[in-house]
Amino acid sequence: MMVEKIVNIFKDRFGSNPLVFRAPGRVNLIGEHTDYNNGFVMPAAINRYAYFAIKPNRLGMYRFHAADFGRDFTTPVYKIEPSSSPWANYLLGIIAQMVADGKDVPGFDCVFGGDVPIGAGMSSSAAIESGLAFALNHIFGFGYSRMQLAKIAQQAEHQYAGVKCGIMDQFASLHGKENQALQLDCRSLEFEPVELNMDNLSIILVNTGVKHSLASSEYNKRRQECQIGVNILKKHNSSIQSLRDVTLNDLNNHKNEFDNKVWDRCSYVIEENQRVINAGRALNQKDFMTFGKLMYQSHYGLRDRYEVSCPELDKLVEITERLDYVIGSRMMGGGFGGCAINLVENSHIDEFIQIITNNYKTPDGHKPQIIACVIGNGAEHLVY
Ligand code: GLA
Repeated sequence: MMVEKIVNIFKDRFGSNPLVFRAPGRVNLIGEHTDYNNGFVMPAAINRYAYFAIKPNRLGMYRFHAADFGRDFTTPVYKIEPSSSPWANYLLGIIAQMVADGKDVPGFDCVFGGDVPIGAGMSSSAAIESGLAFALNHIFGFGYSRMQLAKIAQQAEHQYAGVKCGIMDQFASLHGKENQALQLDCRSLEFEPVELNMDNLSIILVNTGVKHSLASSEYNKRRQECQIGVNILKKHNSSIQSLRDVTLNDLNNHKNEFDNKVWDRCSYVIEENQRVINAGRALNQKDFMTFGKLMYQSHYGLRDRYEVSCPELDKLVEITERLDYVIGSRMMGGGFGGCAINLVENSHIDEFIQIITNNYKTPDGHKPQIIACVIGNGAEHLVY
């Protein structure tokens, strides 16, 4: 539907046939706030996408139309700079990165839209960044690898959206594979597939309905707190570059030099990295019970020590604690709102939805949005 919609809008506005691309949002099974600490994450791309209809225009202009909210943004190619329009920045940031890398990015027309919920922790912004990066690489033949595109998209987010994010979301949007999560080592950027043959289990997201507005400032602050911890430990061991190089022993040996909060942040990250490794092993052995316990532990760490949860996310996780058929549950993504991710037995999904809707209302008094995720492929060119 979305493809037809954006293609029709494109034809109406620009009078020709575009190429069509899409890039997905993501879930993260485990490994939160570890990516920018050079640690491990385990995301998977989902069947929610940002779609792009796009074509070079030979006019020396970039002309964008946001189909979901009916807005336009046009700029001459020589004038790439951050805009006061937040949505345009995700797009301009990509062009700016490619230009900074020495590419000539000629004018083009672009209509885009999508169904990744915004502000839900499902990486709608990474889907837009990754989708445009993938599309431009294709239409202008730049020859970037998917990993290079993920880095470009991450830099766009840093410089044009002001969030010093890690690479997880853009990586997942570009590398996702059907039925697989990807265990990524954010230091080496090597990754391994984790088959999600979960037989009788489903990944179900529940959206708190709280948009994570605090997220960018608190997010950047957590990043700084981790860096403070690294700086303390570096004085004792100059080979330490990030929390990835630190053990709990190192941390405990120097506990008296740490502010309590900084110690909490660092110990959470070190433990979460270990949980990702344990989770990968558990999933490969189809030991879902162990995996589920790790999800809960991840949540409690994010809630109590990393302090990026919120009462609504905590409530959603708490509701599941007494439901035997929920194998695991935790907040997902940057935090301060967005979704909880749950692993639920298929035979009890209806009951799960019933209990959640009876016990949780969004801040504006509505039923929460509940999304059953299908794990799909990363960015692609669509033939329509
Ligand atoms: C956001 C960021 C990611 C990652 C998560 C937390 O989604 O974009 O890079 O840090 O938060 O795990």
